Amino acid sequence: MAPRVLITGITGQDGSYLADYLLSLGYEVHGIARRVALEDPERHFTRILHLVDRIQIHSGSLESYPSIFSIISRNQFDECYHLAAQSFVAESFQDGFSTMNININGTHYVLAALKELQPECRMYFAGSSEMFGKVHETPQRETTPFHPRSPYGISKVAGFELTRNYREAFGMFCLSGILFNHEGPRRGFEFVTRKITSTVARIKLGLANELRLGNLEAKRDWGHAADYVRAMHLMLQQPEPDDYVIATGETHSVREFCESAFAIAGLDYRDHVKIDKFFYRPAETDLLVGDASKARRVLGWQPTYSFSDLVTEMVQSDIAALEPNRRNEKSERLSAGGNNG
Ligand code: GDD
Repeated sequence: MAPRVLITGITGQDGSYLADYLLSLGYEVHGIARRVALEDPERHFTRILHLVDRIQIHSGSLESYPSIFSIISRNQFDECYHLAAQSFVAESFQDGFSTMNININGTHYVLAALKELQPECRMYFAGSSEMFGKVHETPQRETTPFHPRSPYGISKVAGFELTRNYREAFGMFCLSGILFNHEGPRRGFEFVTRKITSTVARIKLGLANELRLGNLEAKRDWGHAADYVRAMHLMLQQPEPDDYVIATGETHSVREFCESAFAIAGLDYRDHVKIDKFFYRPAETDLLVGDASKARRVLGWQPTYSFSDLVTEMVQSDIAALEPNRRNEKSERLSAGGNNG
């Protein structure tokens, strides 16, 4: 029988890549989405429209323990990937309470419901390099102390500790992936990489002229989400549960990302990028670069995309999506009720 998996956050970037990957491996894939998303799939399911016929979506909310409990009580799952979260760091400074509530309690609900109903189900928690925050060493690895710099980072440290505690206290097979930034053409528009590549496309096609950004000197270790979901899966296939850093080991500044993205479109970022204090954060994680040698050694994982492959794919995809023929095709397909978007 095909293994059955539950993905929270299936409508997001990572959830959609993971669903694609697990379907390709022969899994029966289930996901949780909020009622509001189910009511307006063309808006909220853009990343999974191409596979809605092959997965089962359950209505539920991370803010409600009964809804999580009820979904888990109706199906026996072999693996659960808990990816859903308020994942935008800047927003967590605006509304730290919602971020804490969803990210900490939501994780606790998933762990508690699994413990109650299916303690044998293997569970992955989406930790984050934001847990390292004001970094204590470079590069960051599994043993690097946490020093989060945002309510988001704090919520992820709490989720990490909850997951570890369920593992140690109840013997559950639950673990955390400490993933560094991972991007791709399905990235949300508010994150800096997609904000840059989508604006490059608009500038290229004459639909915009400037791009307003905050801190150009922040450095991130940017990989491709399609590579990172393979690592999530590998973690759950090991004989023992353990936590892993997933990163490329290369770091680039936001400025370098801009330079590269504009150059791919034949443009010079200095002609278009404007600094706007609005996009600065009250506290910044200045430099992130991960050491994924444990994942390479134990999981046999390594990334396939280089920095330049990643930026090129994102810019080309955003330009292609805006090209007039492509836009018309898409709106015709949507009005005809097709779902291959
Ligand atoms: N979003 C955004 N918008 N970021 C900007 C901007 C801007 O206009 N200008 C500069 N930046 C800088 C931010 O200050 C930050 O240093 C960097 O660009 C990356 O920001 P984001 O793309 O928003 O990602 P993040 O690093 O804060 O968090 C992402 O990665 C984490 C893993 O390290 C998110 O995906 C998190 O959910 C994830 O855990």
